[in-house]
Amino acid sequence: MAKASKAPRMGAIVTGGGSGIGLATAELLLETGWSVALVDVSDAALDGARGRLANAKGAHFLAADVTDESAVERAVAEAARMVGKLAGVVNCAGISADKHVLETPAALFRKILDVNVIGTFMVGKAAARLMQHSGGGSIVNIASVSGLRGSKGRVAYGASKGAIVTLTQVMANDLAEFGIRVNAVAPGPVETPMVAAIHTEDDRKLYHRYIPMNRYAEPAEIAQVIRFLLDPSQSSYVTGEIIAVDGGYRGAGLVVGRP
Ligand SMILES: NC(=O)c1ccc[n+]([C@@H]2O[C@H](COP(=O)([O-])OP(=O)(O)OC[C@H]3O[C@@H](n4cnc5c(N)ncnc54)[C@H](O)[C@@H]3O)[C@@H](O)[C@H]2O)c1
Repeated sequence: MAKASKAPRMGAIVTGGGSGIGLATAELLLETGWSVALVDVSDAALDGARGRLANAKGAHFLAADVTDESAVERAVAEAARMVGKLAGVVNCAGISADKHVLETPAALFRKILDVNVIGTFMVGKAAARLMQHSGGGSIVNIASVSGLRGSKGRVAYGASKGAIVTLTQVMANDLAEFGIRVNAVAPGPVETPMVAAIHTEDDRKLYHRYIPMNRYAEPAEIAQVIRFLLDPSQSSYVTGEIIAVDGGYRGAGLVVGRP
């Protein structure tokens, strides 16, 4: 098999880097020569990531809450100093809930929008302000198939991910003149702590029924696509794009051979 091309040493910020897709992304980027600042609100998650990446060269760890604007400004500036040339941002910090519309309090809806949408916006904006003066870069946001289709129980989470789609397209438009590309991946279900906490056995059966590949993704499978979108040697003309990484879920009609 052909070896993946090694990126030159570039720097990236990965929010939500302490767990799941963010941690897998940081790990893959470090393996392929990037410096990475992992930013997370959870000290426990950061400690776990520190342990897992103990032997990786170029890993940095920062505690910050993406909903706190001044903390975001400080963390992005600090991360940029840590990683050298800031060329990439991956917005993985996110929260989820699976609740029927009639049982969703407005406060929960606001909290999900705050982390998933406003947090993504603020981190992207702070980083873009730096990258516009340093030759551009790439921002990758994390949407979800729940933002592309109306999945049950996802009124707040799905709406937040639908907003990520439009946020990504508008930021791509506004930032193209600075050489900053903005894209999103829209994962289907991925085996992460978030999913372990939320998906019931019935959810798992339902997903399996409607996913042609008949399984959940591993975090590394999402990380590979994120890395492609970050790396200018791979995706220099891709911007404003939403790539579903979902085992065929979005495109599927009747799934052959499934009850
Ligand atoms: N796992 C899936 O099936 C799936 C599917 C589609 C999209 N996504 C999205 O991928 C992203 C990562 O999800 P995951 O499954 O890896 O979840 P995860 O819970 O394993 O990791 C999310 C990380 O974000 C951090 N975080 C949460 N709120 C934060 C805040 N305010 N500031 C900074 N960090 C914060 C958490 O501490 C955690 O370490 C999320 O946006 C999620 O919505 C996940």
